[in-house]
Amino acid sequence: MDRIRIRGGRPLEGTIAIGGAKNAALPLMTASLLTEETLTLTNLPRLADITTLQHLLVQHGVSMTIAGSEAGEERGHVVDLTARRIASTTAPYDLVRKMRASILVLGPLVARCGHARVSLPGGCAIGTRPVDLHLKGLEKLGATIELKTGYIEASAPKGLRGAEIVFPVVSVGATENLLMAATLAEGETTLVNAAREPEVADLANCLVAMGADIEGIGTDRIRVRGVKRLHGARHRVIPDRIETGTYLMAAAITGGSIRLEGADYGSIEAVAKVLEGAGVEITAFEGGVHVRRANGQLTGVDVMTEPFPGFPTDMQAQMMALMTMAEGAAMITETIFENRFMHVPELCRMGANINVHGSSAMVRGVSRLAGAPVMATDLRASVSLVVAGLAAEGETIVNRVYHLDRGYEHLEEKLAACGADIERLVAD
Ligand code: UD1
Repeated sequence: MDRIRIRGGRPLEGTIAIGGAKNAALPLMTASLLTEETLTLTNLPRLADITTLQHLLVQHGVSMTIAGSEAGEERGHVVDLTARRIASTTAPYDLVRKMRASILVLGPLVARCGHARVSLPGGCAIGTRPVDLHLKGLEKLGATIELKTGYIEASAPKGLRGAEIVFPVVSVGATENLLMAATLAEGETTLVNAAREPEVADLANCLVAMGADIEGIGTDRIRVRGVKRLHGARHRVIPDRIETGTYLMAAAITGGSIRLEGADYGSIEAVAKVLEGAGVEITAFEGGVHVRRANGQLTGVDVMTEPFPGFPTDMQAQMMALMTMAEGAAMITETIFENRFMHVPELCRMGANINVHGSSAMVRGVSRLAGAPVMATDLRASVSLVVAGLAAEGETIVNRVYHLDRGYEHLEEKLAACGADIERLVAD
């Protein structure tokens, strides 16, 4: 298995291009199942999770042409997805277990074909992560749901019917699945307490381009009037706010200065405000964001994860890595997922001082971290170890790099171009 070696202590200076958002691209790709015409997605990131979903969609009958990069556009690639005919409405265990977001084929398949059989998902080892909200929502839309031998069997032979769905907790995936299903349901659907994440809005905008009738995009109350059919469209994936935030932390922990080209300030405002409180300067410019910590010590700040527009859970581990070297203490509270502190023991092995009490972690800043061999069991935890390694004295070896490849495109190249001493050690 590949590993990443980092020799820490160099301030990052330079420019990094931010790619298309993984968490926007995945639901957008599944939206191709809703129409027999071609959905063209541009600015798609090159990531292992995207490839995993491509394999799943191909077995459902989606034909895919990867058309290279957009003209005049270096970043991302362009993919045509055409689901002329659905070849199979079963999403098998072997493909679904690799990535939890595979559950997003459920809504589109039931809406278009009247039935679907999707394996219960696996994915990141963060908490129990149920899918009950997806299923209850589909039942509200008139589908019958049965769980049989590890599979969700959903059927609505006469089609779905619009309904009011009130989410008891905010769920990004359930909002996306039901939004897609509702576009082809008969009548009107209202999603109440819907997720407001930018990735949900990106999906809704793409569905509108495909002919869907949606109001309240970007709010917690989304109204969908079902249409008979959707058509093809061309849609550009939004920039990745979590990739952006991760490089903000990397620049901040090393005392560097980086321009993040293509980043969207509006989507990282909560993170920027917290970082400003910690002594990091963040400024938006036309087409990107600049981050700088030229002088001065980082200060500990308390953070609580929340649904958008609050501080994202997907930035919690990287923020904790940053706070390990701040002056004073920082209380980091995780409210979205249980068991999302797997990076804590690894950061402690690098010299961090962190105590976990239930869903909060008390981080007391230390003056130095020391490199160590480390590994993590999920994507964002792994990248937090890279962030820590960039500032640690000596050598850090991050094992299980496949987690990083799920969500970060050219991570080592992007950091090395800004002066980091980082390389991938390829397994024989
Ligand atoms: C998405 C993101 C993930 C991010 C998360 C929260 C993708 C591909 N993944 O995951 O990176 O960390 O949003 O911002 O976009 N819940 C239930 N029942 C359900 C569904 C969710 O109880 O049926 C709970 C979850 O256990 C969790 C909370 O709701 O406690 C939020 O989860 P959700 O927003 O659904 O996360 P995902 O869509 O899986």
